[in-house]
Amino acid sequence: MANVGYSKKVMEHFMHPRNVGVIENPDGYGKVGNPVCGDVMEIFITVKDDIITDIKFRTFGCGSAIATSSMVTEIAKGKHIDEALKITRGDVASELDGLPAQKMHCSNLAADALHEAIKDYKSKKQQK
Ligand code: FES
Repeated sequence: MANVGYSKKVMEHFMHPRNVGVIENPDGYGKVGNPVCGDVMEIFITVKDDIITDIKFRTFGCGSAIATSSMVTEIAKGKHIDEALKITRGDVASELDGLPAQKMHCSNLAADALHEAIKDYKSKKQQK
């Protein structure tokens, strides 16, 4: 893959993504589709005392989606769910030292799927 316009951090997370996979019976699950390209992202979380203790992602998205999801999982792990809800795609892109402008839409997936997973956790908790 040509390294045109991608930071070293993006390339590193793309080549060695963290927290890839699936959690069976997660406490929260989020799935979002990207309206721009049609790619899909899933995030699974395990939560204990409102802290995200484990997080995994699975995506059919591109390299930027993989890198941003990898970074989102790293930022979110160990955080309180209310703190994790504040993570924005802008935060993720800046942690990765930027993304090419035409790839910013890919970073929506990771942050949005994380937010969906937390909302899912919160709604399940209310039903208990
Ligand atoms: Fe679809 Fe990047 S092109 S997520």
